[in-house]
Amino acid sequence: MADLFDPLELRGTTIRNRVMVSPMCQYSCEAMDGLATDWHHQHLVSRAVGGAGLVMSEAAAVEPRGRISPQDLGIWSEEHAEALAPTVEAMRGHGATTAVQLAHAGRKASTFRPFAEESGPVHGSDGWTPVGPTETPYPHEEPHETVERLSVAEIEGVIDSFREAAEHALDAGFDVAEVHGAHGYLLHEFYSPVTNTREDDWGGDFHGRTRLVREVTRTVREVWPDDRPVFVRLSATDWMGEDAWTVDDTVRLAGELVDVGADLIDVSSGGIHPDQELPHAGPHYQTPYAEAVREAHGEDVAVGAVGGITTPEGANEVILNGRADLAIMAREHLRDPYFTLTAARELGAMDRVDVPPQYARAFPRS
Ligand SMILES: Cc1cc2nc3c(=O)[nH]c(=O)nc-3n(C[C@H](O)[C@H](O)[C@H](O)COP(=O)(O)O)c2cc1C
Repeated sequence: MADLFDPLELRGTTIRNRVMVSPMCQYSCEAMDGLATDWHHQHLVSRAVGGAGLVMSEAAAVEPRGRISPQDLGIWSEEHAEALAPTVEAMRGHGATTAVQLAHAGRKASTFRPFAEESGPVHGSDGWTPVGPTETPYPHEEPHETVERLSVAEIEGVIDSFREAAEHALDAGFDVAEVHGAHGYLLHEFYSPVTNTREDDWGGDFHGRTRLVREVTRTVREVWPDDRPVFVRLSATDWMGEDAWTVDDTVRLAGELVDVGADLIDVSSGGIHPDQELPHAGPHYQTPYAEAVREAHGEDVAVGAVGGITTPEGANEVILNGRADLAIMAREHLRDPYFTLTAARELGAMDRVDVPPQYARAFPRS
């Protein structure tokens, strides 16, 4: 059985260990142009220096109206690829597998960044009208007045945007592309019955509602080279009861995503509606959902566990017990960019990680 420091081979790509830096929006494109800045470079490269096997960018919007906030990262043009390329190269230089999260925020777009003085939707010149499966806005305290319901032609346009974004991401040099299908953003809005009440071929039953995430995954897979993996992040449950999206639905969808080329399901949860009821968000709170996908699909697809993984022992346990193939960590990587090196020290695995020589005195081999 593998442990945290064993490499993971997916297609022709070898990830040096099982630690993944989870995508984390930095809301730091101060010019509101979606172009990566020095902050993104420092943030991502330092986590590669810290030894993580895979470092994923924050949600990179496939089109401008797909940004959560005006300061979000974008990947909708060659200029965006060029801005990211040096960061990707530097991460690879430090031994990390590099990943981009391709995203569209749907009806949750055009909001103030979390550390702005105001919160909720951005109205006025910096904001825009979000799009979604229906015209119903996300129920912020002061919601957007309206959401533009995507027509069939516009849905096809969104799929094209994912295709073009994947091409730009490839030009930037990324090894892995992750389709962001979680957290109440556009693709999740389509597959969840809470938000998709359409009656055309892009809504209705399970097949219609999941069509967009399947088509986007298929499209990204068409662009992405055969030797590089495609991940899909899903919200395993809406936390809103049996009439909403459930873990059983996720297990079924995971199988269908494998059929269209997904190599790893990154299993998150929630985000579709403020009425969601999480029993708790404590240690490893979402790992059982990753396990559900693992148990149903075995070796047919790799699985990532995320949520409340914060300790070396905890991360190692997830891998050792075969609960998932990657231990994905967000907030712990904000606290400790060198989490993987720290974990190797604590778990007696210093001979199995890459320590930059400049830092060797802090991370001795014995
Ligand atoms: C600052 C911050 C930004 C985030 N941005 C994203 C994002 O861009 N895409 C995404 O899928 N999840 C995002 N998340 C969610 C994390 O990737 C992760 O799923 C969540 O924080 C749970 O993991 P943790 O307990 O290790 O923090 C973000 C989380 C944080 C704390």
